[in-house]
Amino acid sequence: MLPLLAVLTGAAMALAVSGCSAAAPEGAVSSAAPPGFATERFPRPQRPVAGIVSDQWASEDSRERAGEAARVIDLLGIRPGMTVADIGAGAGYYVGRLAQRVGPKGQVIAQDIDRRTLDRLGQRVSRERLGNVSLVLGAPHDPRLAPRSVDLAMLVHMYHEIAQPYGLLANLVPAMRPGGRVAILDVDGPVPAHGTPRALLSCELAAVGYQEVAWHWIEGRSIYLAVFEPPAAAPEPERIVPCRAE
Ligand SMILES: C[S@@+](CC[C@H](N)C(=O)[O-])C[C@H]1O[C@@H](n2cnc3c(N)ncnc32)[C@H](O)[C@@H]1O
Repeated sequence: MLPLLAVLTGAAMALAVSGCSAAAPEGAVSSAAPPGFATERFPRPQRPVAGIVSDQWASEDSRERAGEAARVIDLLGIRPGMTVADIGAGAGYYVGRLAQRVGPKGQVIAQDIDRRTLDRLGQRVSRERLGNVSLVLGAPHDPRLAPRSVDLAMLVHMYHEIAQPYGLLANLVPAMRPGGRVAILDVDGPVPAHGTPRALLSCELAAVGYQEVAWHWIEGRSIYLAVFEPPAAAPEPERIVPCRAE
C-alpha cells in the first residue's frame, strides 16, 4: 500500500493522538492542505447553481456501456505515475479506473464536499483494496488539496453544483504542479438542468485566469470535455469579475 495523506479523523485520529505511527488505512478521509482564500472574498456567481441531488451522474453500468471512463482517460492522456484529483468524486465511478491507469507509482485523490459520500467512497476504496487512492474532504470554495500535488484535476458532471466556482478555481491553482491541467466534463445545457453552457464555462474559467487548451465533444454535441491550463498564480479574489448567464 502506498503511504496515504495524514489522517485527522475517526479511528485514525485515535492513532495520531496516541502517538502511533501506523500508515493511514485505505479509505480514511483527510483534509490535507491548509485553507486557501476565504469564501467571503470571492464574488458570488451571477447565475443559478444546481442543487446536489445525487452522488453519481448516471449508473455505472450505463456509463461503462457507453465507454465513458476509458474514452475520457485516453483523451486526457492519463499515464502511470501521474497524480490525478477527482474533484466531486461522488460514488467513485472514475476512482478505481483512474487508480488502475496511474498504477502503483501514481496517485488518485478522490475529493468531495459531502462527508457521507466520502465515507461511502472510503468503504469502496477499502473493499477494492485501492492502495494508491486517498480521500480528501473539501469545501465548496476550496478543494483543500496539498500545494503542487496534482498533475490533472478532473471535475466530472459537477461544475454546475459548485456553490462558489471562483473560489474553487482560484484555490485549486496552488495545488497544480507545473504543466498541470484541469479537465471539466459537463452537459452543454442550462445550469438548473445540471449542465454548464459552454460560453458560461469559458467565461468563468477565464475570469480566474485559466486558458482553454482542448475541447472534445463526448456525446454528439451535448456533453463536452474541456481542458484548461491554470494561471501561474491565482488572482486576488477581489479582482475577479463575475460572469452572467446568457
Ligand atoms: C452528480 S455527482 C457526480 C459524481 C461523479 N463525478 C460522477 O461523475 O458520477 C456531483 C458530486 O459533486 C460533489 N460536489 C458538489 N459541489 C462540490 C464542490 N464544490 N467541491 C467538490 N465536490 C462537490 C457532490 O457532493 C457530488 O458528490
